[in-house]
Amino acid sequence: MKRVFLSETASTNDYIRRYLGGGENVVVCARRQTEGRGTKGRSFSSEDGGVYLSALTFYENLPAERAFTIMAHAAVAVCKTVGSFGLCPEIKWCNDVLVGGKKIAGILIENALSGGFVRSSIVGIGLNVLNPLTGLEEIAVGMKDLLSRPPAAETVRDLLIENYIAPSEFSDYLGYVRFLGEQVLVREGERSYPAVAREILPDGRLLIEERGERRVLSAAEISFGAWRRS
Ligand code: BTN
Repeated sequence: MKRVFLSETASTNDYIRRYLGGGENVVVCARRQTEGRGTKGRSFSSEDGGVYLSALTFYENLPAERAFTIMAHAAVAVCKTVGSFGLCPEIKWCNDVLVGGKKIAGILIENALSGGFVRSSIVGIGLNVLNPLTGLEEIAVGMKDLLSRPPAAETVRDLLIENYIAPSEFSDYLGYVRFLGEQVLVREGERSYPAVAREILPDGRLLIEERGERRVLSAAEISFGAWRRS
């Protein structure tokens, strides 16, 4: 995989688009982003000291129904990386990686689909290492807050790339999911309700049980209530 290193860019997910015509897999890393983007149109704090990278991958034969494998693979790469520094990461469905109940990494995926297949994907990963998280302390955490001797961002970045290049299985993803069987708060559009999370299906959908009734969710947000000890 070709590697590109930048000091600064608006968003690596945007910068990497210039390689879409090339057909070669590439990863673009930046020391900081001035307009880091998160999911649902949110911004992503991207100051110096964090890992901000995007990987562009071309696929020959990936049916759109299997697009979740891209997300699962990215989450596993992040968890393996975080775990290798002695931390205990967990996946919050479907694209956040938490340590101790706070978000240490976020993943933003932008796929190009045609004819029922994923042709290419841009996987953007932001991982908090030494970067300041001013104002986000309640919900976000960095390696600097968790380790007495936190690694340099470059060390974490290089390991993350290695883990991203290595293959992974859906079972690896499930190995980092710790909320199944627990009560979660589900937010579906305007509606918020408690439910028990039962299963994550191989296509990425979440099976929940709400007042005894089982339902499968494809797009929703979950959070863990105050009852959960992290
Ligand atoms: C989220 O948690 O909402 C997803 C955050 C994704 C952030 C990464 S940082 C690298 C890449 N470039 C961006 O602008 N966003 C992603």
